[in-house]
Amino acid sequence: MALPLNRKQPLTGPPVRYDAALERVEIELLLEGVFRRYGFDFRSYAYASIRRRLWKRIESEDLSSISDLQALVLHDPSAMERLLLDLSISVTAMFRDPGFYQVCRQTVVPLLRTYPFIRIWHAGCSTGEEVYSTAIMLEEEGLLERSRIYATDINDGVLQQARDGIFSLKRMQEYTENYIRAGGTRSFSEYYTAKYDGALFSPWLTRNVVFSQHNLVTDRSFSEFNVIFCRNVLIYFDRNLQNKVHSLFYESLVTFGILALGSKESLRSSQYEPCYEKLDARERLYRKVR
Ligand SMILES: C[S@@+](CC[C@H](N)C(=O)[O-])C[C@H]1O[C@@H](n2cnc3c(N)ncnc32)[C@H](O)[C@@H]1O
Repeated sequence: MALPLNRKQPLTGPPVRYDAALERVEIELLLEGVFRRYGFDFRSYAYASIRRRLWKRIESEDLSSISDLQALVLHDPSAMERLLLDLSISVTAMFRDPGFYQVCRQTVVPLLRTYPFIRIWHAGCSTGEEVYSTAIMLEEEGLLERSRIYATDINDGVLQQARDGIFSLKRMQEYTENYIRAGGTRSFSEYYTAKYDGALFSPWLTRNVVFSQHNLVTDRSFSEFNVIFCRNVLIYFDRNLQNKVHSLFYESLVTFGILALGSKESLRSSQYEPCYEKLDARERLYRKVR
């Protein structure tokens, strides 16, 4: 049973005496309630990560238990918005893992040249840094003009930041280094202008980008793509959910379309693995072959 808490100490996770079995029941009920009330389905996200984030929100809201959080979130949509930000981890960077972009330039770009028109999906694009990075790479390879990029995320708040295209000026040095290591061929500063403490990226980079809310768990395929980028998203899902999303990706790729998962995720043990050939083992680039 969940015992009353002494709230003099700041709560940094579940209290020591919190009953683990009951905690799991409360978490499952909360996630079920969130799904039924708001349609956001976190029921199959990795348990340890969800649990940590729920306790972080409990502390921020000055509550004592998961059931308290459930009551708050179900009755107060603004509390749901705050919880959504916690649950959908939005950490990202421009030219994140620069080696990934180098391999894309060498392996993916030559394949894209063969298409008259290129359709790309960035699934789980967060605040858009990854989308601007791809747009810059395509621009430098002379392919941006004939590309259409669909950039989606479950979280409308991060998408608005992506549309605005303003990123922290403090991170520009790190991003410049990433850009160079990623094989950038121009001067990175050509792409943005400093504005107060932000770097405003040139709107022409996103002239062929559509930002839109899409939930990988509950929404369906909405087009056919030549490339799907989905990095640092599936790590938060359990095996069943990963398989569900792989089914969505498989349906959404043209034959010989490319699935770019990055070094932290893979198709290993997915039923779809035999449907793809590996283009790059380290960066987990796959091509749909059947
Ligand atoms: C860690 S960020 C990754 C951003 C970017 N892909 C990168 O690698 O830098 C994960 C993103 O996945 C999004 N996400 C989580 N669950 C999702 C879902 N069910 N459908 C769509 N996006 C989701 C989160 O909102 C978050 O913005």
